[in-house]
Amino acid sequence: MTADGVHLANRITHTLMAWYQANQRSFAFRGTRDPYRVWLSEIMLQQTRTETVGPYYERFLRRFPDVFSLAGASQEEVLKAWEGLGYYTRARNLHKTAGLVAQNGGVFPQTAEELQKLPGIGEYAAAAIASIAYDQPVPAMDGNLNRVISRLYMITEDIGLPAIKKQLRGLGEQLMPKSGAGDMNQAMMDLGATICLPGTPDCPRCPVVGLCKAKALGEPALLPTMKAKKQPQQVPVAVTLLTCDNKVLVIKRQEALLKNLYVFLLKEGDASPQAALSTFRKLAPRQIFVEEVGAARHIFTHRVWNMRIYTANIRECVPVKDGVWADLDALRELPLPVAMNAAKAQALNMLGGTVENDKNVLK
Ligand code: ADE
Repeated sequence: MTADGVHLANRITHTLMAWYQANQRSFAFRGTRDPYRVWLSEIMLQQTRTETVGPYYERFLRRFPDVFSLAGASQEEVLKAWEGLGYYTRARNLHKTAGLVAQNGGVFPQTAEELQKLPGIGEYAAAAIASIAYDQPVPAMDGNLNRVISRLYMITEDIGLPAIKKQLRGLGEQLMPKSGAGDMNQAMMDLGATICLPGTPDCPRCPVVGLCKAKALGEPALLPTMKAKKQPQQVPVAVTLLTCDNKVLVIKRQEALLKNLYVFLLKEGDASPQAALSTFRKLAPRQIFVEEVGAARHIFTHRVWNMRIYTANIRECVPVKDGVWADLDALRELPLPVAMNAAKAQALNMLGGTVENDKNVLK
């Protein structure tokens, strides 16, 4: 790096560190360097908004205050505590990693490289944890950092290209301070989330506007550039609330998507009443109609479920493989994915409960 490059990087770092001291956002997960807490929050924050994470994080910590309590729980208990956050692979990996760390006497690895060997900890989370908990000078290259840095240095090529990603990471490394790497990463996250916004950057409020190449030479709003994402696949789904004796049938999923969470009877690929009937034909061949009670949509990463929700009632609660005939209490206790929220609200109603009383639906 040239002397000018070093000087520019130092000025950006210095200015953003001072800005962060005065303007950082206040979150429940901040103000600690305890690796268990930092790890938990960064896993939650990967796919969930900062404002949403707070109450889940606090509830999770009450339930599992340290890595040993998490390691000692069953997967179902962990999924239940994660309920509502989505992307449940995170919860399954969290549980696996807790087991490994507990075996190691409760001690987390202290470098980004070693952290990345643990289940569910990718390059981003490893850098965030290593910088916040152990002051390792590694940039946590999430969407915010990529946007902020591509604008500061006016990187105009597609940020999806491996060479450009590497270039951005290299620039991020130059911006790491001698101490306080976690603060610098979070300063860039906060700048990206509140001022250096996608599409509509608020440059007049930006503490580093005078150091920004895109502002001086180009159009910050147009950066970064990236290829359009593939459209998610639209999937019609019939959801059946099959009831019997004031219980509703839920099934423990065996498929990779939502594995080990409980769902109502589902027919993916067809949302028609006939599809709903087909989900329980073997259980009750004589039941020949369903009633449609609602509709819902859930967006996964690569797929959208367009659900129509049906009910049907049968006489006999016949045993079903991987199935549970759940009464009101059981329905509240079992881990159900967010994708089932609308159907679950209907089911709670039908069984005589209300959604408001369901302490597990966090608002
Ligand atoms: N997003 C992910 N990690 C974050 C953090 N530590 N602060 C703010 N936003 C984040």
